[in-house]
Amino acid sequence: MISESKAEHRADSAGAANHSVTELSRKFCVAPMMDWTTTHYRYLARQLSRHTLLYTEMVTTGALIHGDTARFLRHDEAEYPLALQLGGSDAGELAHCAKLAEQYGFDEVNLNVGCPSDRVQNNMIGACLMGHPDKVAEGVRAMIDATGLPVTVKHRIGIDGRESWEDLCEFVEKVAAAGCRTFIVHARIAILEGLSPKENRDIPPLKYDWVYRLKAKYPELEIIINGGIKTFEECHQHLEHTDGVMLGREAYHNPWLLAGVDPVFFGQPAPVQSRHEALRATLPFIQRELERGVFLTHMSRHLLGLFHGQPGGRQFRRYISENAHKSGAGLEVIEEALARVREPAEAAIAPA
Ligand SMILES: Cc1cc2nc3c(=O)[nH]c(=O)nc-3n(C[C@H](O)[C@H](O)[C@H](O)COP(=O)(O)O)c2cc1C
Repeated sequence: MISESKAEHRADSAGAANHSVTELSRKFCVAPMMDWTTTHYRYLARQLSRHTLLYTEMVTTGALIHGDTARFLRHDEAEYPLALQLGGSDAGELAHCAKLAEQYGFDEVNLNVGCPSDRVQNNMIGACLMGHPDKVAEGVRAMIDATGLPVTVKHRIGIDGRESWEDLCEFVEKVAAAGCRTFIVHARIAILEGLSPKENRDIPPLKYDWVYRLKAKYPELEIIINGGIKTFEECHQHLEHTDGVMLGREAYHNPWLLAGVDPVFFGQPAPVQSRHEALRATLPFIQRELERGVFLTHMSRHLLGLFHGQPGGRQFRRYISENAHKSGAGLEVIEEALARVREPAEAAIAPA
């Protein structure tokens, strides 16, 4: 089973079986985002930074167990290091899916305890689980017993009705007692009654100091901070109090930011020197996907932010938006769009 899955999903390049998790660092992470952090976004992100830890979109245990498992777990080996985020709460199902994560080559399995949508609340998935710390602990323990992968939890600082500091500590302590060592904390509560998922990412105020307090109180735990972070300067401030930062929307809308991560946070050269180079490095992957029958528009939408703020950036976006959905659209659309933005004469990376 293991080798079958690996062979199937890592067929694109050699050496995948030697993929090592020893270098896994959570100092800089890109957040799991439904419909956004798809394999196509992640491939581009990986051209920009070798060391950023990438997260998949959330996949529910139900989808993995009853649906097309291979399709939900599909990724390219170039995306590593890569964490799979699961949504679910049944310990047996979580354990089963954690094993699948290992078999398919992921570096980490992460449990979603932060998503506030109604759809997931009804199934006991996401942020509502902050009200059930024993259930989360049971699920985490089952996953740890089932796999050698690191098991991490992404959660909020509370939910309506359970938003005290003591509630948060009880949650973290119970889940840590089950064996979880890494907590990714979105520094705002989720309001399950009355706010949409989108509003829940903006309206409840950010309380970074609560995340800092968690690290101070539980120094043995790895605490990663998330929510509203946009610049490297902010990252440096957070890293004085926590072990890592996770960026979501900014990393998606302005992916070029990732080109500074390896030099600034890991003391390593950037893998590419320009946006053009990053995009060109992505083209062979896009071509392979086109040959598999993936529509260009499903991939090109994740490229739109790459020339954000650059001369010609708007024309780049417009050309893709107007042409990528057309029947038979292929790489020529990307090439034409690329011709609308000037290639810099010198390296474009300016570490913040
Ligand atoms: C479009 C979108 C989809 C998201 N999907 C997920 C998800 O599947 N799982 C999850 O834990 N968080 C999800 N989130 C929340 C992000 O992971 C992150 O916690 C949130 O956006 C705050 O970080 P940011 O301010 O850096 O974006 C999503 C956010 C967005 C914008």
